[in-house]
Amino acid sequence: MCGIVGYTGPRQAAPLLLEGLKRLEYRGYDSAGVALVDDRRIEVHKAPGKISVLEKQLGASLPRGQTGIAHTRWATHGAPNTVNAHPHTDCGGTLALAHNGIIENAGVLRTALAQRGHVFRSETDTEVLVHLIEELLAKGGTLVEAVAGALNQVEGTYGIAVISTREADTIVAARNGSPLLVAIGAGENFVASDASAVLAHTRSVVYLDDGEIAVVRPTEYRILDLRTVEKEKAVTRVDWDLATIERGGHAHFMLKEIMEQPESLRNTLRGHLLEEEGTARLGGLNLTDEQLLQVNRIVFTACGTSWHSALIGEYMMEELARIPSEVEYASEFRYRNPIVDERTLVVGISQSGETADTLAALREAKRRGARTLGLVNVVGSTIAREVDGGIYLHAGPEIGVASTKAFTSQIAALAVLTLKMGRLRSLSILQGREVVRALAKLPELVERVLAKASEVERIAERMMRAANVLYLGRGYNFPVALEGALKLKEISYIHAEGYPAAEMKHGPIALIDDLMPVVFIAPKDAVYQKVVSNIEEVKARGGRVMAVVTEGDTGVARLADHKVEVPETLDLLTPVLTVLPLQLLAYYIAVRRGCNVDQPRNLAKSVTVE
Ligand code: AGP
Repeated sequence: MCGIVGYTGPRQAAPLLLEGLKRLEYRGYDSAGVALVDDRRIEVHKAPGKISVLEKQLGASLPRGQTGIAHTRWATHGAPNTVNAHPHTDCGGTLALAHNGIIENAGVLRTALAQRGHVFRSETDTEVLVHLIEELLAKGGTLVEAVAGALNQVEGTYGIAVISTREADTIVAARNGSPLLVAIGAGENFVASDASAVLAHTRSVVYLDDGEIAVVRPTEYRILDLRTVEKEKAVTRVDWDLATIERGGHAHFMLKEIMEQPESLRNTLRGHLLEEEGTARLGGLNLTDEQLLQVNRIVFTACGTSWHSALIGEYMMEELARIPSEVEYASEFRYRNPIVDERTLVVGISQSGETADTLAALREAKRRGARTLGLVNVVGSTIAREVDGGIYLHAGPEIGVASTKAFTSQIAALAVLTLKMGRLRSLSILQGREVVRALAKLPELVERVLAKASEVERIAERMMRAANVLYLGRGYNFPVALEGALKLKEISYIHAEGYPAAEMKHGPIALIDDLMPVVFIAPKDAVYQKVVSNIEEVKARGGRVMAVVTEGDTGVARLADHKVEVPETLDLLTPVLTVLPLQLLAYYIAVRRGCNVDQPRNLAKSVTVE
């Protein structure tokens, strides 16, 4: 997710662009840039890091110009540095473009453009767009015709803003999958990723829909389709306050990020699934198939929620790829004398890519000769830069301290990695196709579960006063029990523990009474009947049970005091669905208890110290 803002009108653009960028910084903050245009030239200023770094670099003498665009970046392709920062310019320096999204066929386009003499400066997918527009402009026609022609050649998602010396008072904007709007001022107009960037100047906006282009000048704007046919669009008045806009209309970033999971999963999976071959395309592993085949053992290492997804990865890898796998707390791995060699693959899982223990564990693994991979969300983070290869989650910034969308994206990325490793070994093409199809279907199944949020909210009302909660699950859902317990304790401060359901008889069953709710994760999977027996043991002792079950379940439903249904999927993917009610349960309980949901006491989003 990146932030884009543009201005054209009678005022100097630079101060307005920088102010707008600051409002969009929650969308991404690893580099920033501004571009101003007049009828002679484009002036571009870019800097790595937060917008304050760019402001410091610009100093008091801001670039002059009444039309300009600006961008704050959440890197997807290319490290977060000045060269890769947006806006990007064409060979002739007469065009500048800012982009939010992923151009999936950027590689093919880049090769063709380079063969036609275009000189690329960055590693980004975005830069192909500005050279395509340059090429079409050179053939004649207007800026909007050139932009439309370029967009008809790309696959993927975009929200873009383009300026040109050819039409120095004009911004051409376009949307496909990434939000963009036109904001209408008095004798001036803006474009922006969301209204927070322009709220100080106007509340009248036109939201672009996918496949639409806007031509924006100081006193007029037009909305067109990709065939440049004009269309009417309603003007909306924005009533939200700034904080609410940043949270997408939700009360907290955590709820926004829970609700974003259909989209974040689509972004994690985008470009990886090969249904025909029943396998996965993973370009970033930097390991050949021969090297992957030499791997005879996998060690997953992580902390917290990421350690929970690592447990799921262990189960996946042993079931489908038949590779001996284990999971290590990073803080433990780094200090014991682990057995690691050149045939060990050590996989570090980290949303932030900056967790000190995980980073140290990976460094120790490398020192001992292991190959290392990172499953990371933040592009260009320390872990991402130090491992041999990896998979980026592309889940977008996760602001809430309690990790939610990163967890489900980690599971999806682990499934993709398992698919790749399994199909190099004994996993059949039919089994592979089944996994690919189930992964592709996940985002819509997630939407169905999230639509039941109000059911979970009612259960939260009943559980919010508990002093202790027990979470139980088996197989792939044992780690979900751990994750549900962690979510609850870290944001509501209620003591909670997760256990394998069968372990209950080895101690925790002594805790069962009508004051301690027991949450069972009991989807219709290979161990379902075993979990039903455990639920009966709890009910026999007067325990109160909330159960997450598969749609249409009757076995558990007659036993549980509360239940939430999730759709059926492959066993290895059930955690992506069963964790959702537990994320919501923790959220609603914490809200009712008046806790600081996004920034719980004593916690930090990234633990960069030991
Ligand atoms: C999870 O909700 C917590 N915020 C915490 O356990 C987190 O998962 C852990 O600190 C690891 O962070 P990482 O994924 O960024 O490495």
